[in-house]
Amino acid sequence: MTILVTGATGTLGRHVVDRLLRDGRQVRALTRTPAAAAAMPAGVEPAVGDLTEPRTLAAALAGVHAVHLIGATGQDHAPLRTGPEITAMAEAAGVRRITVLAEGDEGSDDGLGRAVRDSALEWTFIWPIDYMANTLGWADAIRATAEVREPYASRRTASTDERDVADVIATVLTRGGHAGRRHVVTGPEALTPADKVAAIARATGRDLRFTALTDDQARSQWRADGWPEEGIAFMLDMWATVPATVAEVTPTVERVLGRPPRTFAQWAAAHADLFFTDSQQKMPGENTQ
Ligand SMILES: NC(=O)c1ccc[n+]([C@@H]2O[C@H](COP(=O)([O-])OP(=O)(O)OC[C@H]3O[C@@H](n4cnc5c(N)ncnc54)[C@H](OP(=O)(O)O)[C@@H]3O)[C@@H](O)[C@H]2O)c1
Repeated sequence: MTILVTGATGTLGRHVVDRLLRDGRQVRALTRTPAAAAAMPAGVEPAVGDLTEPRTLAAALAGVHAVHLIGATGQDHAPLRTGPEITAMAEAAGVRRITVLAEGDEGSDDGLGRAVRDSALEWTFIWPIDYMANTLGWADAIRATAEVREPYASRRTASTDERDVADVIATVLTRGGHAGRRHVVTGPEALTPADKVAAIARATGRDLRFTALTDDQARSQWRADGWPEEGIAFMLDMWATVPATVAEVTPTVERVLGRPPRTFAQWAAAHADLFFTDSQQKMPGENTQ
């Protein structure tokens, strides 16, 4: 039984592919580019197609039993508008089970959520809260200056390890029993950016600083870094309007996987080398500053 993973080359999807492969499943992985298809891990059946152009997906869906579908596409993570066509094609191809990555109200305003809910598929919506890997966006600054400077310093998020999200998706797709559910996936605690910087400092043995910025200071810094004005406005607006629910810890990982979610400290330990330059690498625990 073949499982089609979309978003397979991304931060989350590569872990979904990994998990399914390790579980001995037959995995087909979608990408838009032949070069990425050629670079898929051994044992994966690559498929080339574009979710925004459903006619390119027929071969990818042929003979598939279950699908993991991302709910946003492109560089700007725009909501997927072709959900109804993709859902109909999946049903026609004999797909039985689907997980759909969705934020908030199951993408109801773009038609994806409604199409999936109205389909005959065994559907489960997966809503991950803030991948821990998002902190890799700090890696350049940490390597260069040992400092993270950000606005909205008091915001807390129950960030989730993307490997846990992948484990939840793989379990739902292969074991069943989650039809008609919406799983909000979080880590075990709600942390501020400063908490995360402190955890990275402990994992790397480096002396790192977190500096809180006002909106104006953030604007100036990002302009100096060459960010476009729309990007700056998007980030500030996003942080100003993040719902309080992103700080709520859910029992999803424990319930679906029967084990506690990974902590940010564990994530930082697993990725510590990404926060060093080679010349900063020293013995574990040795202060490099
Ligand atoms: N970052 C977070 O905290 C967070 C939280 C909740 C939900 N999400 C959602 O989770 C999803 C995965 O995030 P990520 O960080 O893993 O993504 P990512 O690393 O940015 O990778 C994006 C993936 O989507 C694929 N893709 C993009 N547009 C596509 C299209 N038109 N047709 C087919 N495939 C397309 C890319 O495939 P190719 O480039 O190989 O074609 C790539 O595999 C996104 O939809 C995101 O909105 C993210």
